[in-house]
Amino acid sequence: MIPFSPPRVDELIVSEVTAALLSGWITTGPRVKKFEEMIADYCGIKQVLCVNSNSAGLELMLRWFGVGPGDEVIVPAYTYCATANVVVHCGAKPVMVDVNDDFCINVENVRRAITPRTKVIVPVDIAGMPCDYDELNALVNEPEIKKLFKANSPEQTQLGRILILADAAHSIGASYKGKHTGALTDLSVFSFHAVKNLTTAEGGAICLNLPEPFDNEQIYKRLRVMSLHGQSKDALAKTQIGNWRYDVTEAGFKCNMTDVLAAIGLVELQRYDSETLARRAEIFEAYSRAFSKYPQFKVPVYKTEDKKTSYHLYLLRVNGITEQQRDEILQRIFSREVSVNVHYLPLPMLSFYKNEGYRMDDYPTAYRNYSCEISLPVYYDLTPQQVDTVIDAVVQAVMNK
Ligand SMILES: Cc1ncc(COP(=O)(O)O)c(C=O)c1O
Repeated sequence: MIPFSPPRVDELIVSEVTAALLSGWITTGPRVKKFEEMIADYCGIKQVLCVNSNSAGLELMLRWFGVGPGDEVIVPAYTYCATANVVVHCGAKPVMVDVNDDFCINVENVRRAITPRTKVIVPVDIAGMPCDYDELNALVNEPEIKKLFKANSPEQTQLGRILILADAAHSIGASYKGKHTGALTDLSVFSFHAVKNLTTAEGGAICLNLPEPFDNEQIYKRLRVMSLHGQSKDALAKTQIGNWRYDVTEAGFKCNMTDVLAAIGLVELQRYDSETLARRAEIFEAYSRAFSKYPQFKVPVYKTEDKKTSYHLYLLRVNGITEQQRDEILQRIFSREVSVNVHYLPLPMLSFYKNEGYRMDDYPTAYRNYSCEISLPVYYDLTPQQVDTVIDAVVQAVMNK
C-alpha cells in the first residue's frame, strides 16, 4: 500500500532525538530556543514561540487578544475543524465565509461578514498556497472598517482594528510577493503535526509580526509565561542553584513544546528547502504533467506571479462529477493499494457545526471544491515509480467511473 503522508524518520532524526534524550534536559529548553530562532530567521521575522500544536497556538493568540463571548471571528467554511473549534473554545462565534475556486478565503465575502462584533479574521493557507494578504491587510486598515471596530481589551485598543491571525498550518516555506509566510500579516501559526511538511510529531509555532507600537519581544516573553501556567520561571530557570521560588501571574495554559520534539524540527528545518521542498515540488510537477493531459482533471494552481506554495497538499479535482461519484473513485483508487484523502469536509457538513445552524447551501464554492476533490500522496520518500503508480491508479479509477 502506498501510504498518504508518512513522516521522514532517518538516522539524522534518530541521532538528534537521542542526543536530546541523553542531554539531561528533555522538556522546553535550549533546543526549543534554537528551533524558535531558526524559524524566525527562516521567515524573516524577529520573534517565534513554539507550542505543542497549531490549535493551541491559535487559541493562545485569540485569548491573548481578549476574544470571548459576544465576539465574532471570521473563518473560511473550507478548512480543518481546528480553525473554528478554537473560536468556540473562547466562547466566541465563528462566522464562516465561502472561499475562492483556489480554496482560499474570498476577501469580498470577508468584507460582507464584518460587523461591529468582529475581532479577528483567520485566513487559512489551504494546501500551502498563501491567501490574498495584501487585500486582507488593506481591508482591516480601511477607515470605514476601523470605525466599526469596538475594542474591549488593552490589546484590542492598542491595535485599533481587526486582527489577522493566519492559520498557516500548511504553509511554512510558502511565499507571497517575495516574503515567507509568517511575515505576511500580524500573527501566523504553523503546524508541525505528523502529516505536515515539517513535523515534530506534534507541534506548532506562533510567528509574531505585530505592527508598532507593539513590542513583539515583550509579547513573546508574556506568551511564554502564558503557555506555561502563567509561571514566572520555567523549569530550566528553576534548576539554577537557589532559584526555586516562582510566582504565578495569571491562570495560564500548558502548551509548551519539548526539547525532544524540537530535536526533530531542528533536523527537518535544516534540510527543508534543499531536500523536503525540492522533492515535494518534483512530485507536484510530475502529477501536473500527467493529469493536465486529460480534460477530466483540473490540476491545482501552485504558483502564480505573486504566490508560491509550500507544496503541502496536491488537491486534484475531477471535472463534472458528483460527491457520490468522487467517493466511488476514491474506493477504486484505494483498491489499487494507493492511499488518497479528501481535504476537507467543509465545516457546515460536520455534525457539530450543522447542529449550530450552519448550512452547506450557504457556501456553494466550498461544496463544489470539496465534492470533486481528491488529495494525492506527497512525501519525501515517495519514489518516481510510486508516483507513476498513483497516476495510473487515479486515471484508471476516473476513466472507469
Ligand atoms: C488547516 C489546519 N488548521 C489547523 C490544524 C491543526 O493543527 P494541529 O494538529 O497542529 O493543532 C490543521 C491540522 O491538520 C490544519 O490542517
